[in-house]
Amino acid sequence: MKQRIVYFNGRFIPEAEARVSIFDSALMYGDMAFEMTRTYNRQPFKLREHLDRLYSSLRLLEIDCGLSIEEMERITRETLDRNLPSESTDVDWQIMHDVSRGPLDVYRTAFPEPLRPTVSINCWPMITHMGGFAPKYASGVDIVIPAQPAVPAHLVDAKAKTRSRLHYQLANLQAARMGAGRWPVLLDPDGFLAEGPGWNIFLVKNGEILTPEPRNILLGVSRATTIELARELGIPVRETNLGRYEALSADEIFCTATSYALVHATTFEGQRIGSGNMGPIFNRLLEAWKKLVGVDFVAQARDYALRLPDWLKRDEK
Ligand SMILES: Cc1ncc(COP(=O)(O)O)c(C=O)c1O
Repeated sequence: MKQRIVYFNGRFIPEAEARVSIFDSALMYGDMAFEMTRTYNRQPFKLREHLDRLYSSLRLLEIDCGLSIEEMERITRETLDRNLPSESTDVDWQIMHDVSRGPLDVYRTAFPEPLRPTVSINCWPMITHMGGFAPKYASGVDIVIPAQPAVPAHLVDAKAKTRSRLHYQLANLQAARMGAGRWPVLLDPDGFLAEGPGWNIFLVKNGEILTPEPRNILLGVSRATTIELARELGIPVRETNLGRYEALSADEIFCTATSYALVHATTFEGQRIGSGNMGPIFNRLLEAWKKLVGVDFVAQARDYALRLPDWLKRDEK
């Protein structure tokens, strides 16, 4: 079994030794902020934007992780550098930050040291995630609306990226019951599209890109990148309220997230979107994304899919 190195509460240790206590507030309340960054050509993409969001989430949760953002960035790069030699140079990485308040004070006698926040950074080769995802770049995804609504900002603000994610998991389960591989997009309490459990949604109508207002959603780094690229390409973008009606009459629909950047939707609520293939605007954005990050991540995912069985065999040894 291959062991990567993780940063865990001030030390670099093998990943199997990094354990969060059963008394941790993360487990008790889902009281943990996190981030997922990825590399392109083994360089973290928009790391500062991810860390800015992490620190904003921590402010909402009133957690002081004890590290400045500069220190967090330095330690993140060191964690990645310690892991890079364990894979060939064509392997990109996922970088995960998880920060909780630490064990609850009522259990402090269970710990020899004074209680402190739990801070971990782990790196994982993208072969598994993207190898498994690869077919979706070609097939597109099927989006459905689950019974589970989005949590509105006046209850818990979705802009904070936290491990309090039961509503996303319920949405996933409900979508799976609607058909294997379905992707749920949660509606906000007003019936407007919010987001998926790990992605932001975009529609295209008459040459214009539309995406939900930044209210009841996580402000995705990939969402911001997509908006920037669209504007550079001269494609109009509007943040607005969008419902089932707008989605069903869209010419194109696509989703954005850090791991895969963007993927098109083939159907929405069982109805075909446009031609059912990648639309022209999606295609322009996809090419612009590849140019920006300097990696043909679609070809990369296909390559990872081919290598995945051997990679799993190697890691299971
Ligand atoms: C709920 C939710 N929305 C949107 C996103 C997409 O954000 P990003 O593009 O920063 O990965 C994520 C990412 O995990 C998410 O969890």
